[in-house]
Parts: sequence; structure tokens; C-alpha cells
Amino acid sequence: MRVIIEPDYETASKWSANFVASRITSSGASESKLFVLGLPTGSSPLGMYKELIELYKAKKVSFKNVITFNMDEYINLPEDHPQSYHRFMWDNFFGHIDIPKENVNILNGNAPDLKAECTSYEEKIKKVGGIDLFVGGIGPDGHIAFNEPGSSLSSRTRVKTLTYDTIVANSRFFDGDVNKVPKRALTVGVKTVMDAEQVLIIVNGHNKARALRHAIEEGINHMWTISALQMHPQGIIVCDEEAAVELKVGTAKYFKDIESANLDPATLLKS
Ligand code: GLP
Repeated sequence: MRVIIEPDYETASKWSANFVASRITSSGASESKLFVLGLPTGSSPLGMYKELIELYKAKKVSFKNVITFNMDEYINLPEDHPQSYHRFMWDNFFGHIDIPKENVNILNGNAPDLKAECTSYEEKIKKVGGIDLFVGGIGPDGHIAFNEPGSSLSSRTRVKTLTYDTIVANSRFFDGDVNKVPKRALTVGVKTVMDAEQVLIIVNGHNKARALRHAIEEGINHMWTISALQMHPQGIIVCDEEAAVELKVGTAKYFKDIESANLDPATLLKS
């Protein structure tokens, strides 16, 4: 696992955006071989999306040959609801770049047959050759996508009931009213994410510090589903100093030392 500890949210977002852009541009993606990108919603990736839009405007990256799969979506929330993940993605990212509409995949939380929707999502990912890079965030309880504590680490796309902790955490987007937050969601599984060739997780802010410690310093445990990343051959965590406060001094120093010797992919697109 690589752990990139950046001074703050802005630099962590820049690092992530530059990494994603450099992966796309160096992949040799074409109309016949699209780059397959998994994407999250939430506040964590917002800075990265802003940076990616800037890189697109500066002609440093194009999304013409990119196909995306989002992690999750609420059940029974209209697609045009301000807090639906469909709306989030078009407002904050897709609406500002050159991705073809037909290359955007987001789970349909209003599908008549939710189980069939999940099965066909997995099949579509398989059909395009699997995900090249899955970008994610985590909840304060260490969940990835909507794989709440106790989710199987071999799980695939399915319906999940949200924990009260997640409902409270996400109520900030629903006028602070827990009753307005949908209680169920469709989500890719832990295994769906871990099957990607590379996984990049953005972790920022003090309220994620405990989860980050569990992800990096504790064992693999279904109560902290992000800890499955320890088994991934190419897992990367990009965090800010605030999220790193619960790491041991020695752990943080170790990862910083390693990274200072690395050719930083985040610098590749600068200049
Ligand atoms: C939700 C999403 C996750 C996201 C998490 C953290 O639960 N399903 O994919 O990582 O929120 O959100 P935020 O980045 O806003 O803290």
C-alpha cells in the first residue's frame, strides 16, 4: 500500500487529480479500448473533481475515451433530486468535461428490479474488461462506497441498508434531518472495488482519523471495510495531515520517507 500524506486538503486533491489524469493520458486509451474509471461521490472527492476540470480546460487530459462506473446511489431518490448521486456527478464533474453521456454508468436506485440492476452493473464492468482505476472515499466508520461495517469483504454490487451512523453523517446534505436521508442504497461491493487494477482512496479531515488508523495500522476486518485495501496489490491512500493525526509518528514517517524517494506521479502533469 502507498500512503501519501499531503499537508492539506487542497494539495491532496491536486495529487489525486494529477494521478488520475496521468493514468488516463498514459494508458493509450482509444475509442476501441476505453479507460475504465470507478468514481465516488461525497465531499472528499470534490477538490479532485475541481482540479480535473481545470486540467481538462488546460487540455492536459481528455475524457473522450473514458468510461465511468460510480460506486453507489440511494434507493428511491429521484435522479433529479439535488442530493441524488446522479445529480452530484453531473453538477460537479461530468457536466464540465468532454465525457460522452453514454460512457457514464451510475446505478439506478429507481430500477423496478434492484437485484437485476446490480447483476447487470457487475456484468457491464466485466464486459469492458474490469476497472482500471477505482477512486473512492471513506465514511468516518471506515466504510467504502456503502459497504457498511460488517459487510462481506467478498461482496459484490447489491442493496445495502445504511447504518444509523451513516444516516447521521449524510443528513448534513438533507437539511440536517435524518428522516429525509434514504435508508437504503445500491452499492458496488468491497470485492468489486478490490478487483480494480488500481485503487485510490482519498481521506481528509479530522473526523476520518480513526478510520485511517484502522485502515493502515490495524488488521483486515469487516468492521472497517476499507481495511480490505491491505490485500490489494496496488492500493493507494492520499490523505491530509488532519486525517493522519491518529497514525503512529513512526508510521507517518515511514510512509513519508518512502514517498520522498518516489518519482511522484502527481508532478508529471505540472509545468
Ligand atoms: C457516503 C458514500 C461514500 C463516501 C462517504 C464519505 O457514505 N457512499 O462513498 O466515501 O459518504 O463521504 P464524504 O466524502 O462526504 O465524507
